[in-house]
Amino acid sequence: MSRKIQLAPSILSASFLNLERDVRLLTESADPPEWLHIDVMDGHFVPNLTMGPPFVRALKRITTVPLDVHLMIDNPGEQLDWYLDAGADLLTFHLEAVRPGARGTQKGSSATIKELTEAEVEYAHTLLARIRAAGAQAGLSLNPETPVGLLLPFYTEMDLVLLMSVHPGFGGQSFIPEALVRLTEVRDTAQAQSAELLIEVDGGIDADTAELAVEAGADVLVAGQAIYGQSDPVAALQQIRAAVSQL
Ligand code: DX5
Ligand code: ZN
Repeated sequence: MSRKIQLAPSILSASFLNLERDVRLLTESADPPEWLHIDVMDGHFVPNLTMGPPFVRALKRITTVPLDVHLMIDNPGEQLDWYLDAGADLLTFHLEAVRPGARGTQKGSSATIKELTEAEVEYAHTLLARIRAAGAQAGLSLNPETPVGLLLPFYTEMDLVLLMSVHPGFGGQSFIPEALVRLTEVRDTAQAQSAELLIEVDGGIDADTAELAVEAGADVLVAGQAIYGQSDPVAALQQIRAAVSQL
């Protein structure tokens, strides 16, 4: 395989009390990750609350590994600038969040939308453009049940698509296998449109599911539990890298 698969350990599974130690453990290792994945949850878009701009700013001070900031928040347009100012290198928001109140209400579900109005498409375009204008890379994320066809208007205006392979909100969940066909659909559409973008998969990735996801089209693998949830995160990262470098 010619493309290099990129790893993005999610610090959601690191020790918040020893975050600097855990971050440096990987970023200063002999085989550092390509990205550091930061899950921002607001307690509204998802039923959990995690890190905000001060975390991003603090992390920026201790590593040169690019920061991949995943916003799981309502009204992303109101807060984008906070994260850009704090040092996000890649900033991803959820397409579901361009519609206020689209979040899931049942336990185990997550926000989904089945179509977009013209105004919503326009708004999402504006947010992607604002991120790029600030010099960062711009990403759009979809929850597991949101049709990937809704990404069609954006292929040439984003740097990354993040497909959730769990319902967002928590680490350590099982990979949803239906994500695989979605990865392939995004890969094929990107190729058909000659769009140069990375495809990132997030949720339930370990050495086994990493292999499946890469075969299906993923370029960037987020992994929380399978790296920071292990007793030796450096070895765990290498194990995932080894599993996908054989492909
Ligand atoms: C879930 C987050 C993920 C999470 C992945 O809402 O977006 O980034 O950290 O964790 P694992 O790899 O444990 O499924
Ligand atoms: Zn994430």
